Amino acid sequence: MTRKDEGIGRILIEEAEIREAVREIAAFLDAETTGRTPLLVGVLTGAVTFMSDLMRAMENHVEIDFMAVSSYGDDTTSSGVVRILKDLNKDIAGRHVVVVEDIVDSGLTLQYLLDHLARREPARITVVALLRKNKPDAVDVQVDRTGFDIPDEFVVGYGLDYAGRYRNVPYIGVLDPSAIREWV
Ligand code: IMP
Repeated sequence: MTRKDEGIGRILIEEAEIREAVREIAAFLDAETTGRTPLLVGVLTGAVTFMSDLMRAMENHVEIDFMAVSSYGDDTTSSGVVRILKDLNKDIAGRHVVVVEDIVDSGLTLQYLLDHLARREPARITVVALLRKNKPDAVDVQVDRTGFDIPDEFVVGYGLDYAGRYRNVPYIGVLDPSAIREWV
């Protein structure tokens, strides 16, 4: 156990399982984008790790771009009101855009992003998310491929943070409630 593991109650998804899921999603995207060069759009900051592994696991050519959004809410829940902090650098009209998300929770951030992107008339949008929470009241939003369906708990690691920490943990873990209390 290293310093960065402190506060993690249990491991939910091991590194090897993540690697396998990333390979499967990459193969799915290769099949979806045969003969074209998709633009992978990563949603900062949480999707950075997933994006980096996913694009290297793909065999097709890809281009990448990033968007940064902030959702008004507290540290562990999303309000659905989204502000765009960094927009795309590239024009997406007529292109096949692949949205790369770390986690779909309420689905509100993704729904907002998809509306925003659709207005720019891409030829097609495909959405992949490494994690999707089992939440009965989540909005019904487009997700074409998911790595793991997970319980409705706050998770960290593999890009996901709590209060800015834990992004560099290589597995997905559930935070111990005492770690949350310590910092509030
Ligand atoms: P949504 O709008 O509720 O779907 O939330 C999406 C965003 O909230 C994700 O892109 C994450 O940045 C963040 N988020 C949601 N659940 C978690 C979690 O369990 N751990 C860390 N971040 C989360």
